[in-house]
Amino acid sequence: KDRVLPHPPYRLPVLGDVWDLHVTDSSQWGMRGAQKYGDIYERNIFGARVTYVSSPDLLREINDDDKWAKFLGIPIRDLRSVARDGLFTAHNSEPNWAKAHAILAPSFTAAAMRGYHATMRDCVGELIEHWDGRGTEWIDIPSDTNKVALEVIGRTGFGYSFDSFERTDAHPIVAAMLRALTYINRSAYSHPLLERTLFRAQRTQHLADVEFVNSEVDAVIAQRQREGTGGHEDLLERMLTATDPETGQRLDSQNIRHQILTFLAAGHETSAGVMAFALHYLSVNPEIAERARAEIAHIWTGDELEFEQVAKLRYVRRIVDESLRLWPTAPGYFRKANADTMLGGKYPFEKGEWVFIVLLQLHRHTLWGDDPERFDPDRFLPERVRARHPELYRPFGVGMRACIGRQFAYHEIVLVLATILRNYDLTPDPDYRLKVKETITLKPDQLRLKVSRRA
Ligand code: HEM
Repeated sequence: KDRVLPHPPYRLPVLGDVWDLHVTDSSQWGMRGAQKYGDIYERNIFGARVTYVSSPDLLREINDDDKWAKFLGIPIRDLRSVARDGLFTAHNSEPNWAKAHAILAPSFTAAAMRGYHATMRDCVGELIEHWDGRGTEWIDIPSDTNKVALEVIGRTGFGYSFDSFERTDAHPIVAAMLRALTYINRSAYSHPLLERTLFRAQRTQHLADVEFVNSEVDAVIAQRQREGTGGHEDLLERMLTATDPETGQRLDSQNIRHQILTFLAAGHETSAGVMAFALHYLSVNPEIAERARAEIAHIWTGDELEFEQVAKLRYVRRIVDESLRLWPTAPGYFRKANADTMLGGKYPFEKGEWVFIVLLQLHRHTLWGDDPERFDPDRFLPERVRARHPELYRPFGVGMRACIGRQFAYHEIVLVLATILRNYDLTPDPDYRLKVKETITLKPDQLRLKVSRRA
């Protein structure tokens, strides 16, 4: 028996619902589809079935690793040309996933953030210095939050500065990675024959970009090996020295390269996007910014924000959570059935069939209340979190393949937002209406703010 799901009207032979596909804003389109067709629906693209789920009840099954597991959907699968079996792009069964996860998990606990705190604070300090030099000019917020997040991951990851705040152009590694991601995002929906003919020049550039990035990262690893390990508190140090408790093995140098590329990509755009969305909401909700400033003044009593104080900024943390609710910067994830199953007792799925979780819609579900578009950090008060459906909020994915960088992201984003709020008043552009740009992650498109030093 086959499942019958709501789908766009006018389904065509062979083409299916291809006319109803939006490539440039596919996540927001996935959300609008859910608002029209319901919390489980389907698009048929040239015979391939794409099932969109935003039902918290169905997610009780889908998010359970015993029943369903991570699936590498398009375009994540295509990121493997750069990151191979790095943590994010590894298939569940690849041995390097379990090995790298065991080796790296201790570097991502809340306590491990103590080791990165001073470095993170230095990076925010550079942002502040940069803004102080900008006077009353408009500031391109997504560009600057990208810079701060890139510096944070470069330095805490492998002791490398991209000199982001000194440059007017992008660092060559960043430029090559950005071109590679853009190429992958586009070509994911293309045909190999087209790539070898019509897009030949871009493909050649792409191969050169991947080779360049690989050789640059390998040079950083080789330099550390020459210098000798010891004395560093970064991820590279751990990758070079720690062993997997299960097998006693270390990571090989190719895999270390893929992990570094993974952290650079997974650990920078996502966090930077959250900072930018939060700054947008803070700029247009001055009463929320003031409440946060009162908390910051109460907790941050000395010159520097100390490690222990970051976790005490509970209201700032709720601002981060609420930004991630409305705009989960990784806007969804894929899951595949471990065995033939009857989802929700109604929808048959065969082993290996997959679904896409539409976080943008899950996070706007009617269970959030009457006005899900309203920015309200108090939705994350502990008593309200406890009373909530457990599958209603999943910005970091689920199960064993959930985000390893969650604590890292919270620490860095709270630190950045608290420092900005303490130092500046934020003025929005009165003509700006939030528009969200999708690459693989989400960003507020063309968001600019004026910042003025507080007394
Ligand atoms: C996995 C979101 C920050 C590293 C994931 C997944 C999501 C996610 C949804 C699961 C993807 C899937 O199921 O296919 C986010 C968001 C972030 C963030 C919203 C910022 C707010 C970071 C940071 C790092 C990082 C800062 C590293 C420093 C990773 C890695 C994985 C991952 C390595 C793969 C884990 C595995 O499969 O073992 N992230 N992430 N992320 N994230 Fe993050």
